[in-house]
Amino acid sequence: MQISCGTDIIETKRIKDAVARWKEPFLRRIFTPREIEYSMKRKFYFEHLAARFAAKEAVLKGFGNGFTSANLRDVEIINDVHGRPNVVLKGQMEKLRKKKNINTITISMSHTRDYAQAMAILIG
Ligand SMILES: CC(C)(COP(=O)(O)OP(=O)(O)OC[C@H]1O[C@@H](n2cnc3c(N)ncnc32)[C@H](O)[C@@H]1OP(=O)(O)O)[C@@H](O)C(=O)NCCC(=O)NCCS
Repeated sequence: MQISCGTDIIETKRIKDAVARWKEPFLRRIFTPREIEYSMKRKFYFEHLAARFAAKEAVLKGFGNGFTSANLRDVEIINDVHGRPNVVLKGQMEKLRKKKNINTITISMSHTRDYAQAMAILIG
């Protein structure tokens, strides 16, 4: 069995400022429609967006590859009915998952007004 992990932490203000400055184009470049809908419904939407940003980077680190806005969108974070976040891979990231024989990815995230962090564990 092969296990790898990735982690990331981000200042939530970076995301708040980016949304204020770049608005929809920024959101659409980084996040999927479902991630935007989930986060923007919430009072402190930038915390949820920042946590998703950290989660995407944590998954990419787990794979050991670099970041582009295209592959950030190919890592989607979707919550189940209990609120637990799950990772859905698409496009190039799904191809990479198959190539690296990764079967399971688990993610955990936490956020406060100032910071958001995430950890991903990849099992193959
Ligand atoms: C998981 C839980 C402990 C979060 O704790 P918290 O200190 O308030 O918040 P954190 O910033 O540490 O974590 C929030 C993240 O936890 C994750 N989370 C939420 N429910 C989760 C669950 N059941 N399992 C795993 N992770 C969960 C989510 O990713 C959430 O962020 P998101 O909404 O942006 O996706 C809390 O929401 C919980 O106990 N939920 C399950 C039971 C429940 O829904 N109770 C109702 C409130 S009493």
